[in-house]
Amino acid sequence: MKASIVAGALATGAAAQSGAWGQCGGQGWSGAKTCISGYTCTFVNDWYSQCLPGAAAPVTTTAKPTTTAQPTTLVTSKTSSPPAATTSAVANGKFKWFGFSESGAEFGQDTYPGLWGKHFIFPDNNAIQTLINQGYNTFRVDFAMERLSPSSLTGSFDSAYLKNLTQSINYITNAGAYAVLDPHNYGRYFGNIITDVNAFGTWWTNLAKLFASNSRVVFDTNNEYNTMPQDLVLQLNQAAINGIRSAGATSQYIFVEGNSWTGAWTWNVTNNNLAALTDSQNKIVYQMHQYLDSDGSGTSPNCVSTEIGVQRIVGATKWLRDNGKVGILGEFAGGPNSVCETAIKGLLDHLKANSDVWQGALWWAAGPWWGDYMYSFEPPSGTAYQYYNNLLRSYQ
Ligand SMILES: *[C@@H]1O[C@H](CO)[C@@H](O)[C@H](O)[C@H]1NC(C)=O
Ligand SMILES: *[C@@H]1O[C@H](CO)[C@@H](O)[C@H](O)[C@H]1NC(C)=O
Repeated sequence: MKASIVAGALATGAAAQSGAWGQCGGQGWSGAKTCISGYTCTFVNDWYSQCLPGAAAPVTTTAKPTTTAQPTTLVTSKTSSPPAATTSAVANGKFKWFGFSESGAEFGQDTYPGLWGKHFIFPDNNAIQTLINQGYNTFRVDFAMERLSPSSLTGSFDSAYLKNLTQSINYITNAGAYAVLDPHNYGRYFGNIITDVNAFGTWWTNLAKLFASNSRVVFDTNNEYNTMPQDLVLQLNQAAINGIRSAGATSQYIFVEGNSWTGAWTWNVTNNNLAALTDSQNKIVYQMHQYLDSDGSGTSPNCVSTEIGVQRIVGATKWLRDNGKVGILGEFAGGPNSVCETAIKGLLDHLKANSDVWQGALWWAAGPWWGDYMYSFEPPSGTAYQYYNNLLRSYQ
């Protein structure tokens, strides 16, 4: 999900009051542009917002990102006809990975390091176990590089944050599921685009060393690179891969992500150069994200049409196959309504029908602090958990 750290990089200086544009979601979201009593809107931008407990947290002033930052140029693609061949899907393959992003440890992105329980939280193991018992097997654990590495990319890790993160990861993998380590950083560190490729590789070496013996861990190089040089995205991904392998972590899969928020709908335009990534273990999986609202941002509960799921993904399917790659849809979601439900079904049917290249999908998002957020898959009361669990389980 596109979130606050992006705004830090794109800020133009224009202050936006909390809720002035976009709704404040997250814990305590009342469904309107304010948080429920006892919660404060700590962040809001075009895509994402967070209510956190308490009243003391400052309201962040952020700027609305420029429209060019969003892949609006491809919005017109929604008007093209859906490819007929892909709609008669057969659920012919079992997803290797099927589950959720677990959001929480990356919350409070305007407050570093912030306080556990106030600005950020780790996933709820009971909730994860509930989802594992229902057959889901992959949990992408979001965290903030600034909290793990407070001094520099090559500096030592914060032991308390690392301990909690490790406990989450180990809980998941001990339960037999995959845990995806997701630095939810948009190719940025303290708001600045990461340009020190070697330091980024070292950061990954240092982290991968700690998980080198756990083959159920997956390394996700970074969440949603965006608005940065395309060659840099290639270099950062390659440095991460090389750094991970040099740490002796050779059994794990590596999820790479692309520029333009790793959007599937723009992948065949923006991310062609990433076909050149290499891995000595040949375990690269291309992670793409796709939302189905009009601007593809995942901020509206409305989906463009019942066919939009397939329409936005077919180009990526072709790209993967043409290039001999495999992929995972690492974020997707839709609002709780029948148009989105049909669009999501079409999307998942398409992924299954093309299981030679699509290895799985992860819903955005579960996590303990989502409150009434429209996409919340946190059991037992998350809006999407209640609306979509039966549908998603039928695709396991
Ligand atoms: C780690 O989790 C414990 C609760 O299990 C909490 O008391 C502590 O503050 C957390 N620390 C960090 C840095 O997350
Ligand atoms: C690129 O992907 C989009 C979205 O799936 C699709 O509409 C378009 O036809 C693709 N273009 C090519 C050349 O494959």
